[in-house]
Amino acid sequence: MAKVTFLGAGRMASAIVGGIIAKGIYKPTDIACTCGDDDTGEKLAKQTGIGYSRNLATLLAEADVLVLACKPQQLAQLPESLRAQTAGKLILSILAGTTLARLSERFPEARNIVRSMPNTPGQIGAGATGFCVANALSPNDLAATTQILGALGEVVVELPEAQLDAVTAVSGSGPAYIFEFTKALEEAGVQAGLERKTAATLARQTVIGAGNLMAALEEDPETLRNHVTSPGGTTQAALESFTASDLRGIVAKAVEAAKARSIELSQL
Ligand SMILES: NC(=O)c1ccc[n+]([C@@H]2O[C@H](COP(=O)([O-])OP(=O)(O)OC[C@H]3O[C@@H](n4cnc5c(N)ncnc54)[C@H](OP(=O)(O)O)[C@@H]3O)[C@@H](O)[C@H]2O)c1
Repeated sequence: MAKVTFLGAGRMASAIVGGIIAKGIYKPTDIACTCGDDDTGEKLAKQTGIGYSRNLATLLAEADVLVLACKPQQLAQLPESLRAQTAGKLILSILAGTTLARLSERFPEARNIVRSMPNTPGQIGAGATGFCVANALSPNDLAATTQILGALGEVVVELPEAQLDAVTAVSGSGPAYIFEFTKALEEAGVQAGLERKTAATLARQTVIGAGNLMAALEEDPETLRNHVTSPGGTTQAALESFTASDLRGIVAKAVEAAKARSIELSQL
């Protein structure tokens, strides 16, 4: 009997399905998916051994949890019959920017609704996810939520919905900030006299290595920074330049801009 149904079988759904099977949380036979007009659902079913049907009603009849993993704009196109078909089910949404109020309008008879905000590293099980809930979760639903979202990465945090725009601005959009910094480091390397390919390799591996070191040592980033900053040395010269340009203020302004945009988008 399928216990979890995925509406959408794209990148994020595939990452969650792969993770919950690999971790032994659900058997492939307890999972099923449906998709839109492409063949993503059939592909995911073939790769993982989960069920697939074009008929969501059939899948929902057997499922206890519905994971919403289509694009946010596709929510409005879903059939009205979903209201009744999701009565008594747990809805777990990963749709960026779709509020609990909107989800509650769409699934008024659901047992409970979880709105989560994962990020792109979730696609390789290295994500950070914030989530909020319509009503306090029962122990079973909390376990299902953290196990399913946990497939996207170890870090899963519950917060009030009012903080989800800040989560979006920090961890949701955050990977792009790191990619942009990596590119800036590459450009700076070229300006400092390196070949483009060398600068790109060094910048990329530096960011990967620093991330892995943070993961391995579990120290505060500032402590790690201090470890590599000898007084009067080269790193200190660079860090003083960052301070003079107010790097922290620049990052704070960017996060505020992302948060403001997240608030705007969720009100559309
Ligand atoms: N990608 C990320 O890193 C990331 C990060 C945070 C949040 N999210 C959120 O995660 C969600 C999914 O993103 P994604 O990157 O996985 O998208 P994706 O790869 O484009 O997958 C979307 C899936 O939804 C399916 N779909 C479309 N219309 C449908 C319908 N009417 N009924 C059922 N399924 C339908 C698509 O099927 P067909 O292709 O067959 O049409 C596809 O399987 C989005 O809402 C996004 O906001 C993604």
